[in-house]
Amino acid sequence: MHASLVVSGLRKVYEGSGRRVEAVRDLTFTVDAGELVCLVGPSGCGKTTLLKCMAGLLAPTSGEVLLGGRRVSGPPPGMAFVFQEYGRSLFPWMRVGENVELPLRQKKLGRARRGELVADALESVGLADAAGAYPWQLSGGMQQRVAIARALAYEPEVLLMDEPFAAVDAQTRADLEDLVRRLWRERGITVLFVTHDIDEAVYLGERVLVLSASPTVVQEQLKVDLPAERDQLHTRVSPRFAELRTRVYEQIQAAKRGEPAVEDVPPPR
Ligand SMILES: Nc1ncnc2c1ncn2[C@@H]1O[C@H](COP(=O)(O)OP(=O)(O)OP(=O)(O)O)[C@@H](O)[C@H]1O
Ligand SMILES: [Mg+2]
Repeated sequence: MHASLVVSGLRKVYEGSGRRVEAVRDLTFTVDAGELVCLVGPSGCGKTTLLKCMAGLLAPTSGEVLLGGRRVSGPPPGMAFVFQEYGRSLFPWMRVGENVELPLRQKKLGRARRGELVADALESVGLADAAGAYPWQLSGGMQQRVAIARALAYEPEVLLMDEPFAAVDAQTRADLEDLVRRLWRERGITVLFVTHDIDEAVYLGERVLVLSASPTVVQEQLKVDLPAERDQLHTRVSPRFAELRTRVYEQIQAAKRGEPAVEDVPPPR
């Protein structure tokens, strides 16, 4: 499948109980097939709303989302989603292994293959021992890693992640960042990754989209011209990394003040 994502003129207005919120005003951008794009923006600017529209969980007020050229009108097969509210994304009456296996049941895979995928995914998030536990027996960060394992086991072509590492400790977070990069490189999946963390956006992304404060538009798109081979020790202390993170930081500050984008980032020296 050619799994490019196109968001075109997307607008979302929430209405109900006498309240009307324009969460997203007018968003247009593309994530190419096989690209890893990070999205940052101020709290409340509509990132989760955008991802829910892209996942077919919410209908846009106007505009559309296209996946591989087809309009998204419900959860598309081949797409996995890691929600921000991890506490609500696992079924408490199912064991960890069953939670991870659940989406695989739609895939017509043999039982042995399903077991293999579940074991591999749990292993890769460092929870090989937790398959028999219930979600509520795990810490918040562990529950989030289960949700991530479930998305990985599904072997998606498109992966949407909404601040997936917010509840995870720093060391695990670094490991999971490298896992996302590795999976992306190995499997050629299309990834859209929402984060509050500027360093994380620059470390992970091939491109960073900065959203403005509400009413939300794309403030800037920044190409991350760091080498594809990244590692936590060297990449984060490279001069280019510092330049890019400064640039994203300035853009977010400008976005919060509602100012237009400033001039372009200077090329590497
Ligand atoms: N179901 C809903 N009904 C009404 N308003 C909503 C609903 N969901 C979100 N909103 C409003 O839409 C706006 C955008 O919310 P959203 O959760 O998409 O932002 P966000 O960028 O993901 O924020 P955060 O960074 O804090 O996760 C907010 O003003 C929020 O109050
Ligand atoms: Mg959110």
